[in-house]
Amino acid sequence: MDARLMADTARAMVAPGKGLLAADESAGTCKKRFDSVSVECTEENRRAYREMLFTTPGIAQYVSGVILFDETLRQKTRDGADFGEYLKKNGIIPGIKVDAGAHDMALHPGEKVTEGLDRLAERMQEYFRMGARFAKWRAVITIGQGIPTRACLDANAHALARYTAICQEASIVPIVEPEVLLDGEHTAEASEAVHERTLETLFHELATQDVSLEHVILKASMCVSGKGNAKQAGVQEVAERTLRVLKRTVPAALPGVVFLSGGQTDENATAHLDAMNRMGAPWPLTFSYSRALQAVALKAWRGEAGNVAAAQKAFHHRAHMNSLAAQGKWSAGEEKKAA
Ligand code: 13P
Repeated sequence: MDARLMADTARAMVAPGKGLLAADESAGTCKKRFDSVSVECTEENRRAYREMLFTTPGIAQYVSGVILFDETLRQKTRDGADFGEYLKKNGIIPGIKVDAGAHDMALHPGEKVTEGLDRLAERMQEYFRMGARFAKWRAVITIGQGIPTRACLDANAHALARYTAICQEASIVPIVEPEVLLDGEHTAEASEAVHERTLETLFHELATQDVSLEHVILKASMCVSGKGNAKQAGVQEVAERTLRVLKRTVPAALPGVVFLSGGQTDENATAHLDAMNRMGAPWPLTFSYSRALQAVALKAWRGEAGNVAAAQKAFHHRAHMNSLAAQGKWSAGEEKKAA
């Protein structure tokens, strides 16, 4: 275990004005995204799409690392460079999603538990050899009638903690992602309460598994109103609730907190991050978005080589806006100015 390497990796991941691109959609999720723009989800199209993102001129100014799917770490650019190598050469740290997805939890209807611990230590060694320096494991927490249950929170937190220990033994920085879904009709207040239970449980399990908190990055969701709730909490309220729950539950020893976008609009994801950074926090707060960074680029791309430049411009713009938000320097006016 190389603590110095992990400290350097973690610091670089959350360097000022930089954040992560989550490009680790499984083939299934990728198909859903590609279907929305009528692009066939072939291995080559997934490769070409990721190449478009990773080769965006100037993107390393805003993006410190990319979370890859296993398939992508084994693919190459058109010029024959391994994606991992290509990113590293361009000053971007390659990371890897290692969980095997959220599956229905036995005896707990409506709840999920994330799988993927089997042989994870061996796989982690291989990922390190392939250049990955951080990893991601996502747990899914659903809010509903009587859920989340204690059983679901415990099982997911335990798996996250065991994954964390395995990462650290391989000198790979773990991103722990307990995503509280925004699906449902709940209020932002209810979301905050579930976040509090989820994060308390997670940090209790991490302590139990003896991991070093100095080498863990939290990937958090935000305390937004449920998608089905007619009354949506405003930017300031979401930022206040999210920051309050983080301060209550997340140790100051963590090198940083990154956020997922979770189905928020692009601009909301940026505005919430900006508002939290204006309030100030004990950790660097930045982005690790998939949809809120990629949606506009995917729409511009549509699988056509001729659209690559336009798609890259759209991606560059969202990355720039989120870089400003990571510094508390974004405003709606910047959107128009830079577009
Ligand atoms: P979204 O930003 O689209 O929520 O994705 C982030 C992510 O990595 C989910 O696991």
